[in-house]
Amino acid sequence: MRVLITGGAGFIGSHLAERLVARGDEVTIVDDLSTGSIHNLKALKTFNNFEYFIDSVTNERLMAEVVDSADVIYHLAAAVGVKLIVESPTRTMKTNIRGTEIVLELAAKKKKRVLITSTSEVYGKQDTVPFQEGNDLVLGPPDKGRWSYACSKLIDEFLAIAYWKEKRVPTVVARMFNVVGPRQTGRYGMVVPSLIKQALLGNDLTVFGDGSQTRCFTHVTDATQALIGLAEHPEANGSVYNIGSTDEISVLELAQRVKRLVGSNSQIVFIPYSQAYEEGFEDMMRRVPDLSKINQLIGYAPSMALDEILADIIRHHRGELNVVRTNELGKFVRISA
Ligand SMILES: NC(=O)c1ccc[n+]([C@@H]2O[C@H](COP(=O)([O-])OP(=O)(O)OC[C@H]3O[C@@H](n4cnc5c(N)ncnc54)[C@H](O)[C@@H]3O)[C@@H](O)[C@H]2O)c1
Repeated sequence: MRVLITGGAGFIGSHLAERLVARGDEVTIVDDLSTGSIHNLKALKTFNNFEYFIDSVTNERLMAEVVDSADVIYHLAAAVGVKLIVESPTRTMKTNIRGTEIVLELAAKKKKRVLITSTSEVYGKQDTVPFQEGNDLVLGPPDKGRWSYACSKLIDEFLAIAYWKEKRVPTVVARMFNVVGPRQTGRYGMVVPSLIKQALLGNDLTVFGDGSQTRCFTHVTDATQALIGLAEHPEANGSVYNIGSTDEISVLELAQRVKRLVGSNSQIVFIPYSQAYEEGFEDMMRRVPDLSKINQLIGYAPSMALDEILADIIRHHRGELNVVRTNELGKFVRISA
């Protein structure tokens, strides 16, 4: 199988690439390194069945070549992370809408199989959980920057389904709910890596709002397995599938759990949303996926419990930060990056 992964130097994309390279697929990635990192490709670069282009998915000439050479395309390149999206809504929409349109236009020429990654954000302000793929979607107004991400991803979903219905391009949409794991960065507002890094460094653990908002976290290994299952299933064409976990936890409980697992004495501090993001910021209070549709199609069920997931990420960050306990107060001190 010849596979193209856009956004392959990112968190999920690099794990997906490693999995596909390991089973012998020919993997090409295109990534502009805007939020991804060349370090994520370290292991991949040693394989002969791997190549990469540091470029944008909006470079149509390059994209025409790499789409043409691929049997299947995993489109992950996107502007990601609440902080980045609130700060750069125009870039968010250009990358997320135009980038997807280019991938689908090119894939349509030879009817290549395309998986589009969407997000639980599209469920918006719904408060009845679990969220089913066929539910109505309630998004906030356009003057609240954070909704540009959900709207742009929702347009991507419409595009993917339209290309299947109108042009018979075999597309599938994966709506992912909070995927976490090694290599995810906390730089753009991702809660798990941020809290873990803060705990390891002995800094305050910052919880936005009052911490009562809940999330369900899925390990990247489970998520990438689901992505491959969907991309390769012929009956998935033209449909949307939730990927996630139903193990719900509030962000405050998450911070407490991280503290306990790290063995940290850090304080938990609360930051108002207006200070963390922007005045009038609206959060989604709950997000729990209904997984019956994907379970019926490919037998997907998450395999890792939250403590196991957090332990894996803590191990990764400990290695990265090379932290040591240095004083009797139990503070961790960073000695190398
Ligand atoms: N991590 C999650 O919890 C989650 C949840 C829902 C959906 N998603 C979706 O999964 C995909 C991957 O997300 P991630 O968590 O790995 O984030 P990530 O930021 O690590 O990955 C996105 C990658 O896309 C690249 N990119 C951005 N703009 C680009 C462009 N114009 N051209 C080429 N590359 C570009 C970035 O450099 C980065 O490597 C995204 O589409 C995201 O919307 C992720």
